[in-house]
Amino acid sequence: MKILRYLFTSLAVVYLSTNANAQTIKWAEVEPGIWKASIGKPETYDLLKAAGAVPYHAGLVEMGKAAFPLPPADIDAKVVDGKTYLRFPLTRSEQLYGFGLNFQTVQQRGKILTLHVDTYDGRDNGSTHAPTPFYVSSAGYGVFINCARYITVYAGTGVRLDSKTPAVVQDRNTDDTWNAQPYSDAVEILVPAAGVELYLFGGPTMLDAVRRYNLLNGGGCLPPRWGLGFTQRVHRLTTAAGVAEEAKAFEDRGYPLDFIGLEPGWQSKSYPCTFEWDKTRFPNPQAFVQGMLAKHIRINLWTNPYISPESPIYKQIKPFTGSHTVWNGAVADISMPEARKIYFGEWEKGKIDIGVSGFKIDEADGNNFWLWPDVATFPSGHSAEQMRQTYGLLMQHNVTNSYHQLNRRTYGLVRASNGGGASFPFVIYNDYYDHRDFVTALINSGFAGVLWTPEVRESATAEEWVRRFQSNIFSPMAMINAWASGTKPWSFAEVADDVKQMALLRMQMMPYWYSEFAKYHFKGIPPFRAMNLEAGFGDGVISTNVDNSNLQENPYGKVTLQEVKDQYMAGENLLVAPMFTGEKSRMVILPHGKWFDFYTGKYVGDGEVITVTPGLATIPVFVKDGGIVPMMPALLHAPAAGEKVDLEIRYYGEKPGHYTLYDDDGETFEYEKGVYSFREISVVLDNGTIKGNISAPVAGKPNNFANISFRKMTE
Ligand code: GAL
Repeated sequence: MKILRYLFTSLAVVYLSTNANAQTIKWAEVEPGIWKASIGKPETYDLLKAAGAVPYHAGLVEMGKAAFPLPPADIDAKVVDGKTYLRFPLTRSEQLYGFGLNFQTVQQRGKILTLHVDTYDGRDNGSTHAPTPFYVSSAGYGVFINCARYITVYAGTGVRLDSKTPAVVQDRNTDDTWNAQPYSDAVEILVPAAGVELYLFGGPTMLDAVRRYNLLNGGGCLPPRWGLGFTQRVHRLTTAAGVAEEAKAFEDRGYPLDFIGLEPGWQSKSYPCTFEWDKTRFPNPQAFVQGMLAKHIRINLWTNPYISPESPIYKQIKPFTGSHTVWNGAVADISMPEARKIYFGEWEKGKIDIGVSGFKIDEADGNNFWLWPDVATFPSGHSAEQMRQTYGLLMQHNVTNSYHQLNRRTYGLVRASNGGGASFPFVIYNDYYDHRDFVTALINSGFAGVLWTPEVRESATAEEWVRRFQSNIFSPMAMINAWASGTKPWSFAEVADDVKQMALLRMQMMPYWYSEFAKYHFKGIPPFRAMNLEAGFGDGVISTNVDNSNLQENPYGKVTLQEVKDQYMAGENLLVAPMFTGEKSRMVILPHGKWFDFYTGKYVGDGEVITVTPGLATIPVFVKDGGIVPMMPALLHAPAAGEKVDLEIRYYGEKPGHYTLYDDDGETFEYEKGVYSFREISVVLDNGTIKGNISAPVAGKPNNFANISFRKMTE
């Protein structure tokens, strides 16, 4: 036995010593709490470069330093046959989160994912709209692989012969707990490139690591105030007159509306796209757009990127397009300055320059039957794979620049993004429609540095309509997408008023939403995020069991994981637990600390599981002890720049409360020059009486608040 062990050890030593590819990794602290290392020869084109990401240094400095989060010797990297092999250590109790916009689980340990920009088809396999190669560990650190390639992740599945913590070998014949997935002590990553740039983010908490990742991207996006109101996308062939009619119906019925989304029919032809207004449906685009703006309603235009031969730019841009078309439309190689000038010049001419406020950048994500194949070539020399992984980033980056040049903020939709894109003011959506999975995606979006909207399109019943609407109101974009259905908020008469009250609540909460997005930008804190990022919640794993009871059905006894993936944090103080069609009540897991009902202020529990029966009209929302929610009156449109609104500061529970209220002009990029303020709100109870204070408006800075009152919600 001894000789055997010796031989084995000596073999292991030979293996290690002859493996010339293993390299020592030099980590350099590039920002406080962020370390970077280059393995092999990293490619010149990567995610951060495609996104033009510039770290928000002030935010990272404010966060301060952190300890290097992993034993350096336990991180392994080598380049073998032109591919980069990476290994990060994983201890027995660690949970993993992230690896992109997944829809069905929040815990990622035990997954194998190939991170590939694609339209989501119902399976969590790494093919998704934002396959962000960033993960966070429950041990309080994050890892980002800055590479525009299809990266394969073995998130705690590989079991190495020389592991220092070998799995227990079990006899399946006699041991019912035999597990098809033995313990794995590593995250292993295969990058199909001869080198890569790695980033490591310190904690000590998971949220700290997520914040540092977002700040490395430049900070999260700060939408214009109007972006956080309500939006309706009209049927795809609606005319200018039809849009005006629809806007009037919202006004007459007292439903809020901030921007209207036009779908393919605004263009003379689509699939492929001409990018030209249809002269019959929109005879005078400038008058139309300006007329809507006069009614405080902005216009958002749908388009996919693919250029019709009948487009006015087709001839000029053709030399700068890929070898393959999509729906017979040319694909502009927008990684090239020549292509960008022509292409985005067209998006500006007669669109942005007549007052269009934003775009819905569609179908840059996937479905391999339609998008360019991996054998396509592009004049820039970037591969089809790299273009697939970055097209959404390039689109967002350039459209954002077009608005930045005009000092006008935009807020739109996009079907594809990736690592590096957190600062772009675009929200991801898709054609998938499972409501529960939509909520799980909202939870995961906070780990992926993107925004996601559980959009409402159509429903089979009034109950489904109102339940979908409620969770959508508590998301980055409150939107009905009626491009095919033509549904209106009031389409289901029996719940029309419930829907209206929810839409008005969205508007009332605008000061809260706006402040939470300001923390996304300046502090990197995702406004919508997993409970696992909330202190006092834990890892959210309810149960994992090996099921060897039915080998016919489950020949390998696949482990079933029960986890919390249907409740989330909306901003600093709110816990949202959506109801789903057919449910009369549901369980809600409350983190440690006292929690209170958002609508009544009543105490509901502390660090326990409660059951709620909310009725159809409301979605269960809870506020932490000392929680503050600043509200404005329920206006039908977001306040314009300089327009003052009254502010009601709602306070819940009994603990002293503190909240930072953000204020700026709500529409421009002047905040980048410091033209903004954070006003400090504090509340205490003095013998049961509320004593509230808010710091004075900052001289010379925008002040959008008139009469300010405090309201004690918990009696
Ligand atoms: C789809 C998109 C829909 C709608 C449609 C228009 O790709 O997901 O929301 O915009 O295109 O053709």
